[in-house]
Amino acid sequence: MLRVVVVDSPEHAGRLAGDAVAAVVGRVQRPVLGLATGSSPWPVYDELARRVDDSSLSLAQTRAFLLDEYLGLLSDDPRSYRAEIEREVVGRTDLPSTAVRGLDGAASDVEAECCAYERSIRDAGGIDLQLLGVGSDGHIGFNEPGSPLDSRTRPMELAPRTRQDNARFFDGDVEQVPAHCLTQGIATILEAGELLLLAFGGSKAEAIRQAVEGPVCERWPVTALQRHPHVTVLVDRAAGSLLERADSTA
Ligand code: F6R
Repeated sequence: MLRVVVVDSPEHAGRLAGDAVAAVVGRVQRPVLGLATGSSPWPVYDELARRVDDSSLSLAQTRAFLLDEYLGLLSDDPRSYRAEIEREVVGRTDLPSTAVRGLDGAASDVEAECCAYERSIRDAGGIDLQLLGVGSDGHIGFNEPGSPLDSRTRPMELAPRTRQDNARFFDGDVEQVPAHCLTQGIATILEAGELLLLAFGGSKAEAIRQAVEGPVCERWPVTALQRHPHVTVLVDRAAGSLLERADSTA
């Protein structure tokens, strides 16, 4: 089931997502989180940092997996997703760095890295709660339009629009944005126990309309979420502006 909640602000979404993380951490003995990168989860990570800081939450027993990674950036490159999670989450909470597994964007054998990643997720017992953003072209993880709905973790070529959208993290220079990445597949993402998608701003409105009201199709990978039994979509008014239905405003 897919539930849509329209929030007043990204901070508000961060608080609701913080509640979802806290619920999993309270319920599961060794919780496993799926962490997204890009700007959409930042309010969630701010909220987690706040809760750990005031001791209302601990991530000390939590393990985490990243959704995707650029190919060709070393893990200590500040623009790598691993470095972003170290900065945004590990550096500001009690989540141990050793409990975080990301895809190795510098792996010499990328196919072996992707197989090992799938195995690591399985060995951890699967992901309990997966945070997601969505691209303006409807990608989740880096599963670009045309990705099979049964895809697993694999290398992908980034769509020109995604590289353009992400140039803001590379001094505004699209040429610096890596052309390839490793990403969890759509089927991998759908195996998580619960999915939480965050989207803010009008540039996401069409992708959110497709996610909620469009037919499930490879053109809009985000529509695959409709096949998952437990999905919450947190959007601000701009990202939800093309929706005919919203289940609740919070
Ligand atoms: C990042 C990821 C991507 C982003 C998407 C939106 O780990 O998987 O799918 O969630 O590109 O990016 P932002 O949040 O920067 O708009």
